Amino acid sequence: MRAKMTPTFTSSRMREMFDSVFRCTVEMLKYLDAGDTDQILEVKELMAKLNTDVIATCAFGIDCNTFENPDGRFRQMGKRFFNLKWWQKIMQMLVFFAPKIVWYSRISMLGKEMNDFFYGIVRDAINYRKENGVVRKDFLQILIQMMKEDEEIGKKDKSEAPPDDGTRLTMMQLAAQVFVFFIAGFETSSTTASFALYELALNPDVQKTLTDEIDDILAKHDGKITYDSLGEMTYLTKVIEETLRKYPPLPVLFRICTKDYILPDTNIKIEKDTPVMIPVYGIQRDPDIYPNPNKFDPERFTPENKAARHHFAYLPFGEGPRICIGSRFGMMQTKLGLATFLSKYEVSVCDKTLIPMEYDKRSFVLTSNGGLWLKLKRRSK
Ligand code: HEM
Repeated sequence: MRAKMTPTFTSSRMREMFDSVFRCTVEMLKYLDAGDTDQILEVKELMAKLNTDVIATCAFGIDCNTFENPDGRFRQMGKRFFNLKWWQKIMQMLVFFAPKIVWYSRISMLGKEMNDFFYGIVRDAINYRKENGVVRKDFLQILIQMMKEDEEIGKKDKSEAPPDDGTRLTMMQLAAQVFVFFIAGFETSSTTASFALYELALNPDVQKTLTDEIDDILAKHDGKITYDSLGEMTYLTKVIEETLRKYPPLPVLFRICTKDYILPDTNIKIEKDTPVMIPVYGIQRDPDIYPNPNKFDPERFTPENKAARHHFAYLPFGEGPRICIGSRFGMMQTKLGLATFLSKYEVSVCDKTLIPMEYDKRSFVLTSNGGLWLKLKRRSK
């Protein structure tokens, strides 16, 4: 399934989806412009709204405009997934430590309402496109095409049809993939963009360098943010990379050891089949790897500085065969969200800003305690 999904995220696909993402950022600006010149805002919720819209349009083909409908079903479902009930959290732990129990118990981890909502949306969108000949440049279209190809092969020659072992793209499989894109895509990107704004508020000099870059590049492109102008914003990339170092949205990675292994220079053996947790947050704040690790310094991500570190000292997207499949899309939507925002607004700390940072200990995604409150000011240019 993973091999099937990989072509969904090529550069040319990203370029095709750029306009859809861009339209969502325009809605964000309209929403902000309708407010006061100076505002105190919870920026995690702002970015969650933006990225809910981005994934809803690119994955489900639905324009839900969460800025106008903050209580829309997509936003509600997103919130619900990241505030699971106690028994759902236990199921989550079981998925890792004892997956067979979850599989054989046939209990749905999400609950019927969420299952029905996402399955229903995908089924209706597919039927609508079929009946009305609608073709869009989004993830759903790519998956519909793959499902069609699987069906066609099966019709022509049954022996060549993909086996019915979970790799054949059925409607349920397709709905599951789209759901994963939604969950994996909107929270991680919102976390990244909002922690970036938090650090920019704490570091006005970094914010100034970044807004200068955005202004200069936009001036060269008639004031327009395009796929190409975004590509030229290299300091913005460094700011996001440094944010992902200090605040990896998934602070721990999970693996299962596939062969007996002795940790180098120790007599500690990890036996085959042992579940392993990799402390990404700890590695990325290790002073031996990143001197003065609590300092926010985008220059750690110049090509030379990157090359000087061990490749696995930076793991915000994971590593190996299960590395994040949507990292390019995640970077594109985070860059576009921040560039659009910073082209018109600046951020600073206010009385409600959490300094120093505290995390919500019950959340499996890195989350601040009580939100990320910042002061926003419309820029005078
Ligand atoms: C800044 C944004 C993002 C971050 C930080 C992030 C981070 C991660 C991490 C750490 C993993 C686990 C990798 C591992 O175990 O080695 C992962 C997996 C995954 N991500 Fe992302 N992600 C982001 C955006 C996205 C987006 C936008 C999508 C899809 C639209 C996406 C789809 C996935 C999928 C499908 C997997 C599972 C891959 C597999 O198990 O084979 N991610 N992501």
